[in-house]
Amino acid sequence: MANVVVVGSQWGDEGKGKIVDWLSERADAVVRYQGGHNAGHTLVIDGVSYKLSLLPSGLVRGKFSVIGNGVVVDPHHFVAEVEKLAGQGISITPDVLRIAENAPLILSLHRELDALREDSNSGLKIGTTRRGIGPAYEDKVGRRAIRVIDLTEPDTLMAKIERLLSHHNALRRGMGAVEIDPNAIHNELMSVADKIVPFIDRVWELLDERRKKGQRILFEGAQGALLDNDHGTYPFVTSSNTVAGQAAPGSGLGPAAIDYVLGITKAYTTRVGEGPFPTEQDNEIGQFLGEKGREFGVVTGRKRRCGWFDAVIVRQTVRTSGIHGIALTKLDVLDGMDEIKVCVGYELDGKKIDYLPASMGAQSRVKPIYETLEGWKDTTAGARSWAELPAQAVKYVRHIEELIGAPVALLSTSPEREDTILVQDPFQD
Ligand code: IMP
Repeated sequence: MANVVVVGSQWGDEGKGKIVDWLSERADAVVRYQGGHNAGHTLVIDGVSYKLSLLPSGLVRGKFSVIGNGVVVDPHHFVAEVEKLAGQGISITPDVLRIAENAPLILSLHRELDALREDSNSGLKIGTTRRGIGPAYEDKVGRRAIRVIDLTEPDTLMAKIERLLSHHNALRRGMGAVEIDPNAIHNELMSVADKIVPFIDRVWELLDERRKKGQRILFEGAQGALLDNDHGTYPFVTSSNTVAGQAAPGSGLGPAAIDYVLGITKAYTTRVGEGPFPTEQDNEIGQFLGEKGREFGVVTGRKRRCGWFDAVIVRQTVRTSGIHGIALTKLDVLDGMDEIKVCVGYELDGKKIDYLPASMGAQSRVKPIYETLEGWKDTTAGARSWAELPAQAVKYVRHIEELIGAPVALLSTSPEREDTILVQDPFQD
């Protein structure tokens, strides 16, 4: 019996949606435990594409799913995403979805603050998704957040909103933004409360009960480990912990609930937003990867920055997330290249290092040290066994395993779930 955590091992967009979909067939429950609707998970099922931001991917197949307390929930977005899926024939009811009563809410004021900061010339531009994620988490740790359960207590809600606004209106005055009337926030919440309240539950309890019954839980991480608020390229990160350990506090289970960590890893590297990216190829190679890999953000439509595989950061993620095995995705994007580079270390101020340094300055100064591998001409797209892969492609995969210190458990060779080579089943580990 095993519970599996799926995490992105780079800067997000590694193709988690497909892998979670693939694994969810073997799971009894799928749980989101951090982030919010900044995530963008694409699932292709029988040629139909489903794009999810806040809802756990298991829902598309009717699998029992949970939005854990570690997630920040935009109630208006929640309703819109549920309606969008209903339009695609997928009905989301409390039979298949529960939301943690203690999850904090994202309000319109968080979205506005996110955008005000991103547009300000004096602040540090992070290139956020502008969905209010950071400001909502700030209020959570600042102990003034409105939480999902507060929607069930309209009488005391007003006092909580006033307390929240005493902080936000002071901030807004300083930024030259108009102050907010508590009634506006109250109305904003009450207009959707009826559509959220039926989903509220004690998630920590129901998950523990399911676990004790021997059910398999799949924890669906969002973003990637290099966007982790502690272990990522700070301050160019998201505002949650994206490393695998977060699955426990973000859902209310103890750390022993995690049996296997699967790191989703793209065969090259991409990043959206600002911040260091040592192997970035701002040239025709990056353009080739971006076009062939269709590297555009699911949430914001932004073009992703592209570059060579960076074994330093993935090796670090293997350690900070305790990754047991990886799912390697998008290998076919490299098909047809004459040669392929892999970053095996960095040079920092004339010295060789084998880790990502913590300081912002050093992160921007590191120079990648590359190894060059021979490419392959035949396609890997749609391969369903190792035997179908060109010898050089197998060599590339084996070399990556060696460099990062973790084996390939799954190899994904197209967005279709059947195009997956299974080496080691994470649930059977
Ligand atoms: P935020 O999460 O909207 O605050 O954005 C912070 C940083 O995380 C920005 O660089 C975003 O581009 C990045 N980010 C947030 N969510 C995702 C994601 O799902 N995939 C990739 N990057 C993301």
